[in-house]
Amino acid sequence: MNNTTSALRIAVTGGTSGLGLALVRALHARGAQIAFVARDAQRVRRVADEMPGTHGITGDIANKDDTHRIAMQITAALGGLDVLVNNASSLGPVPLALLADTDCEDLATALETNLLGPFRLTKALLGALAVAARDGRGARVVNITSDAAVSAYPGWGAYGASKAALAHLSRIWDEELHEHGVRVTNFDPGDMDTPLHALALPDADPASLKRPVDSARELLAVIDAL
Ligand SMILES: NC(=O)c1ccc[n+]([C@@H]2O[C@H](COP(=O)([O-])OP(=O)(O)OC[C@H]3O[C@@H](n4cnc5c(N)ncnc54)[C@H](OP(=O)(O)O)[C@@H]3O)[C@@H](O)[C@H]2O)c1
Repeated sequence: MNNTTSALRIAVTGGTSGLGLALVRALHARGAQIAFVARDAQRVRRVADEMPGTHGITGDIANKDDTHRIAMQITAALGGLDVLVNNASSLGPVPLALLADTDCEDLATALETNLLGPFRLTKALLGALAVAARDGRGARVVNITSDAAVSAYPGWGAYGASKAALAHLSRIWDEELHEHGVRVTNFDPGDMDTPLHALALPDADPASLKRPVDSARELLAVIDAL
């Protein structure tokens, strides 16, 4: 990789909480050009105000109709794109449910958010990423996965199946885009103390969990190394 994160033009979905927010903060401290996406407009504004120069985009990555607007806002704000981090995520049913008790609609939400959203956004931004690769800047997509994509944890069916599909999608994207200079990889941040984790496992001891800032640091190292 011949670009440092300080010069990066990077888009992060789910940049207002947990890992995404920690990543936006770390990138901002390095002077990267950042666009981030989340649904709650007030929180998007608050994060953008906290870090002047960042571009907050209100949108729902699970909504097909938002895809092209989000993609255009990203490339317009950054003047192109070097890195896309597909981080926003849905658990599916909350509280978590066994598959036999999971409504189709909750499985659909997990798939729309964790699989189709990243697929659509990546596809919509491929042109910008290919230009970055052609210009020698390097171009990367990082999809945030989970150990639930690998281990068959009871109660994590909708989430785990969507993350497993996302992880495999990354591997196939990487095979197909390699020759165009675009690298696609997965990153499992580990169990972190975030609102998503609290929703999934409300009784977990926060002290036993990773801090999102530590996972964000590891993610930056992955981005740097690609
Ligand atoms: N926390 C863990 O222990 C853990 C473990 C393994 C993997 N992960 C993965 O790590 C990533 C980050 O998780 P987290 O725990 O940091 O989550 P989090 O704290 O709940 O933050 C999720 C972020 O995504 C946004 N978001 C959710 N749905 C969205 C949608 N449809 N469109 C746009 N933005 C959306 C949220 O803002 P809005 O609600 O305003 O949209 C928020 O900014 C996820 O991919 C998760 O699966 C987490």
